[in-house]
Formats: sequence, C-alpha cells, structure tokens
Amino acid sequence: MQTLAGKKILLGISGGIAAYKCAELTRRLIERGAQVQVVMTNAAKEFITPLTMQAVSGRPVSDSLLDPAAEASMGHIELAKWADLVLLAPATADLIARMSAGMGNDLLTTLVLATDSPIAVSPAMNQQMYRNIATQENIATLERRGMHIWGPAAGEQACGDVGPGRMLEPMQLVELCEQFFADKPLKGQSVVITAGPTREAIDPVRYISNHSSGKMGFALAEAANKLGAKVTLIAGPVSLATPAGVERIDVDSAQSMYDAAMQHATTNDVFIGCAAVADYRPATVAEQKIKKTDDSDQMTISMVKNPDIIASVAALTENRPFTVGFAAETQDVETYARGKLVKKKLDLICANDVSVEGQGFNSNDNAITVYWHDGKQSLTLASKQQIAHQIIMTVAEKLDA
Ligand code: PMT
Repeated sequence: MQTLAGKKILLGISGGIAAYKCAELTRRLIERGAQVQVVMTNAAKEFITPLTMQAVSGRPVSDSLLDPAAEASMGHIELAKWADLVLLAPATADLIARMSAGMGNDLLTTLVLATDSPIAVSPAMNQQMYRNIATQENIATLERRGMHIWGPAAGEQACGDVGPGRMLEPMQLVELCEQFFADKPLKGQSVVITAGPTREAIDPVRYISNHSSGKMGFALAEAANKLGAKVTLIAGPVSLATPAGVERIDVDSAQSMYDAAMQHATTNDVFIGCAAVADYRPATVAEQKIKKTDDSDQMTISMVKNPDIIASVAALTENRPFTVGFAAETQDVETYARGKLVKKKLDLICANDVSVEGQGFNSNDNAITVYWHDGKQSLTLASKQQIAHQIIMTVAEKLDA
C-alpha cells in the first residue's frame, strides 16, 4: 500500500555501522510511495557508499556543503525546505552532540539548522556511549526542542556489547514514518480506558479474579494514542508494558478502578470500559490468612455487589464522556450485548464471544462486533492491535457524526 505516497523524506546518514541498514530502509520507504533524498556525512561514506544509496533512492546523494555543482542543482537551503520529514538514521553520538550544540559544520548539520520541517532522530551507538550523561543530556535537549526520538533498541551490538544503542530496524522506522504521516482523527481528544482484571481480596494472601490479560485494553490505549488522542489507561494488575505516550494509573480492586474512573471520566471526551471488572467482592476481607479447619470440608464466602463502573460513567449528567462498553459473552452474543447497551445507557458496545478458542480472554487475537442503537459493525478475527485500531476509528467516526 502506498502509505507514504508523495511524502518527501530527507534521510540523513551519519557514520555508524548501522548505516548499512539504510539501503533497506530507503527501499522500503520508496516502495510505500515516498521520495527519499539521501544526505551523508563523510564518516557515513566509510560504512556505505553514496553509489549504493544513489542506486536505491534513484537520486544523487548530497554530501558536501561547498560543492558548486550540487548547490547549482538543489542548494542546501532549498533541500532544507524540500523535506516533509528529516529522518536522521543512524544518528551517532557525534551527530547528536553537534545538533545539540547548534553546529553547522557539514551539510547534514547545516540542513538541520536550516529546516523548519519535523525532525526524527534514530540514535545508534555503543551502549556505553548511549548511557553517557553527555549523550543523554544531548538527546534530552533535542527532544525538548521538539525533535522526535525514535529508539534506540536494546540488544547485541556490532562491537559485541549488549545494551541500548541499536538503531531501530528499517521496518520499525518505516512504521514510525507511516504513523507520523497518518491521519490523526482523535487529535485534540482525550480518552480514558480501563483494562485488565480486578482482584477482590478474600484475605491478605488470596483473591478472586479472572483471566483478563489486559492485552485488548492496552492495544486500545496504543491505538488511541497513535490516532492522536491523549490517553489515560486505568490498568488492573497485569504484566504489560505501558504503551509509549500513554499515562497509566495502576489499580487493584473494582472499587479502586471505580474511584480512578470517576475521577477522570468528566474531564475526558471518551471513556472505554474494556476491563473485566468483578461483579461481586467478598463481603468482608479477613485481616489474617484464613486457616483450614478440620471440622468442615466446605467454606462459604459471602459476596456483595461491586459498583458498575461503566453504568456510573454513562449515567453522569454533567460532562458525560462518549461511553463505550465491552460485553464478554459465551452465548446469544447480540441479544446480551444489545441488552447491556440499553441497560447501561452506553453509546457503543464491543461484543466478543469469549467461548471461542483463540479469541477473547488472554489471547493475542480477537473478533468483535460493535453495536450501537441502530447499527452494528463486524470486525473479523485479527490481532488485538488491528481490532483496537478499527474500534478506535469507529469511535472517531461516531464522535464526528
Ligand atoms: O484482557 P484480555 O485478556 O485482552 O481480554 C479482553 C476481554 C475479553 C477482557 C475484553 O475484550 C472484554 O470483553 N472486556 C469486558 C469484560 C467484561 O467484564 O464484560 P461484561 O460483559 O461482564 O461487562 C460489561 C461491561 O461492563 C464492560 O465494559 C465492563 O468493563 C463493565 N463493567 C462490568 C462490571 C462492573 N462492576 N463494572 C463495569 O464497568
């Protein structure tokens, strides 16, 4: 798909071993419709030849500030204005330091000074150089000036060290470029999402919970963030990394999830309840670990109802957010989901049949039907990331309508 059709990307390559990946990166960008103008530092040419980069980009490489012939075709100021995005990959510690200091002692740093296009920096260097306080401060300076910092990844390095400092893989950089240029239908909107299970304590060491992994809710948070929203993720106890750019609030019980949800619901535009909230909790929590007794083979736990978080949000009379629920069903999915849509007064409900193997709880994939009062949309089995993207796009359409 031509996801980057017509986009002009100035690819600035500095002198690190990861420069060899730039041929692949350029090919993948061009495959998606981008025009790529390569600019190389002198050190970069020690790692990959300008001839290779010219061949893959289909354009002569720019590498000199003081070359009359190059200046006559596209001068450095013109080049700086041409780009929709300046992508510096690999960006060595030296290039980052020179940019941080505002130097313009070669074509690439001069272009960085002369452009008002967005700049993305993909650091690549030895892990110790990356960890060095000077490099860290330089990167923080670039970030503060509004540059996008893409990476680095951690892992085995060309020098044999292991740690952070690997340039992101070409396809990861391509995806970041795609995200950068993608339409952001939720720009200016804020979204609260609940995710994962709740834990209802029985005593200090035992609880009642369920199989929710948080994957669906975290995928929704990531998708909403990528589509431009400011995202607050209220997470039950799960072991997932927080998606980049998302604010996370960790909670435990249904009551603590309710408190966090009610605190944020009125100040956000959209509320999505994806968490598998326990409907009931033990009426009392034993102060000490409950002991097994010899005189009975049974034990009974008396339960009381938890507050219904999503119904409470949907019932708000002032500053009510657009409210999206989930329905985890094992039979008669449409009837039960539509019943919850009406009873809980939701705007949308995303129903999943959790009796089907390979979808629903704790799986990587899901299949969802989104219902609203006079319509529905079926999202067939796909990764939770893809399903989340489609749900968020549907939410954006409904907000727009
Ligand atoms: O976390 P994963 O492993 O990725 O799995 C994803 C999922 C299966 C948990 C998710 O897709 C899902 O279906 N979430 C909702 C689970 C659920 O509790 O469904 P329900 O039909 O019991 O509840 C209906 C709605 O009411 C939900 O939006 C739920 O968040 C909300 N609810 C329920 C009880 C309660 N006390 N408060 C609530 O807000």
